[in-house]
Amino acid sequence: MSAIPPAGVAAPRVNPLQRIWLREIGMEKLWLKPAPAVRQADAQVIDLKKEASVRPAQVERPDPASPVALPVAAAPQAQAAPGPDAPARVAPAVRSGPPPRPVAKQEPEVAEAPVIPVAERVRNATLDELREQVVSCTACGLCQGRRHAVFGHGGQPACWLVVGEAPGEQEDRQGQPFVGRSGQLLDAMLSAVGMSRERDVFIANVIKCRPPGNRNPKPEEIAACSPYLMRQIELLKPERILVLGRFAAQTLLGTEATIGSLRGRVHQLKTDAGPQIPVIVSYHPAYLLRSPVEKSRAWQDLKLAASLN
Ligand code: URA
Repeated sequence: MSAIPPAGVAAPRVNPLQRIWLREIGMEKLWLKPAPAVRQADAQVIDLKKEASVRPAQVERPDPASPVALPVAAAPQAQAAPGPDAPARVAPAVRSGPPPRPVAKQEPEVAEAPVIPVAERVRNATLDELREQVVSCTACGLCQGRRHAVFGHGGQPACWLVVGEAPGEQEDRQGQPFVGRSGQLLDAMLSAVGMSRERDVFIANVIKCRPPGNRNPKPEEIAACSPYLMRQIELLKPERILVLGRFAAQTLLGTEATIGSLRGRVHQLKTDAGPQIPVIVSYHPAYLLRSPVEKSRAWQDLKLAASLN
């Protein structure tokens, strides 16, 4: 401690006794003036940033309580020269040698929320809660490509529940069932038997999210999604169900029979909550658009559905 430290060079660490002695010989301010601790601190922060840009995954933001960050917080103290009456203070520690390597901290373990199967989640849900569950569902891969999950729409209480397969492009865009060309035909078919989608009918699909390119839903997608439809049936308690197309009919009735053998008669759907519900199977409107000759059969099916009391 024989010379004033040159500018930019860190002063050696002084203990309280040394500081009193420096003050007595009038050297304290001169010795401590360059506030080398601040410069050293700056250098450390820059090094940290450099490290961070090289190894971002391992370097955390400096912890204000850590020795690496301490000089930054201590900078104003080190710069202000203590007044004559100020109590002797220990200068912030200055580390000599290369700056310490930042220590990668362990991420605190975050407990993952348990994945509750759809069938369990829907069990006591109200219709509004069920809608919330559907629009935020991630139970299968279809959620990744959807714009909107399509819960269903219609009057409540609904006399009829109409069940289709899955949303198409327009339904995915608008979040509503049967709003494309098939939907226009469906509306015309329903109004032919005096039914309106706003007043008397609730329209839903077995699958709530659009399969890419309108491909057939996969078994795991059906398994993940069908509890939503079953809960809708329990809650809506429709007087009858009109099922449109082979896929929806086979899924709802749990059969592999052809649509030709399923249509033209009344099936009974047993639900956990309540009595059996009559089910009528008919052709899907998209199929009728491609094969208009089948419209007369579809008309028979609608009349059968309308005739049930
Ligand atoms: N086809 C369906 O099965 N459902 C829709 O919602 C639209 C088209």
